[in-house]
Amino acid sequence: MIHFSKENIDNLDKIYRLNLINSCTGYKSANLLGTVDSDGNTNVAVFSSITHLGSNPAMIGFVLRPRTVPRNTYNNLYKMKFFTVNHINVDDINDAHHTSAKYPKKISEFDKTNLEPEFLDGFVAPFVKSSKIKLACKYLNEYSIKENDTILVVASIEGLYVEKEILQEDGWLRLDHAKTVAINGLDGYAETKLIERFEYARPKK
Ligand SMILES: Cc1cc2nc3c(=O)[nH]c(=O)nc-3n(C[C@H](O)[C@H](O)[C@H](O)COP(=O)(O)O)c2cc1C
Repeated sequence: MIHFSKENIDNLDKIYRLNLINSCTGYKSANLLGTVDSDGNTNVAVFSSITHLGSNPAMIGFVLRPRTVPRNTYNNLYKMKFFTVNHINVDDINDAHHTSAKYPKKISEFDKTNLEPEFLDGFVAPFVKSSKIKLACKYLNEYSIKENDTILVVASIEGLYVEKEILQEDGWLRLDHAKTVAINGLDGYAETKLIERFEYARPKK
């Protein structure tokens, strides 16, 4: 096996290290965050750090990069307190990836891609129409990770939309039926296929 020591990692070329470290922790979730500002300008951007924080109360979190450049998603959700999380499916990967381009606040990625905004049940932030699993979220708090100037944003799940064929009898969502992709590193999108689902594991007798 190839071994990278801490010293090797620190001395790597910037892009090489970015690719290596972004992929070494495994596949990541692939979501589009939908937000709106107080003037009604919509925004949608790809995020790979959305993670489950707890189910009762239902909570998620994500890591926001340093605010050394304007962060429209964060500014919008901080001001408006609401945002949406929308699974990226196989058919949308091109457009989803493009949402990471730095557009000025007034230009909506919805207008620069084929992704369509959808407003559901009076929720202020836009959902992504083609997404088969959509979460309505409320900003609760944030924690600064001072070691690298990032922020952990904590939010509650205020509502959930799922297509019928994805939802199983016990509440489990069969994500491969939604054609939800996973993110490999910073620019790789992978298809998923369920192998097996197991019973609750108990110690062997
Ligand atoms: C695959 C991928 C995953 C990303 N994940 C994150 C993330 O978890 N957190 C983050 O702050 N930025 C992430 N980004 C960068 C944002 O998509 C990018 O900064 C985007 O311009 C944000 O848009 P905004 O300024 O409209 O919020 C990711 C980019 C890509 C391509």
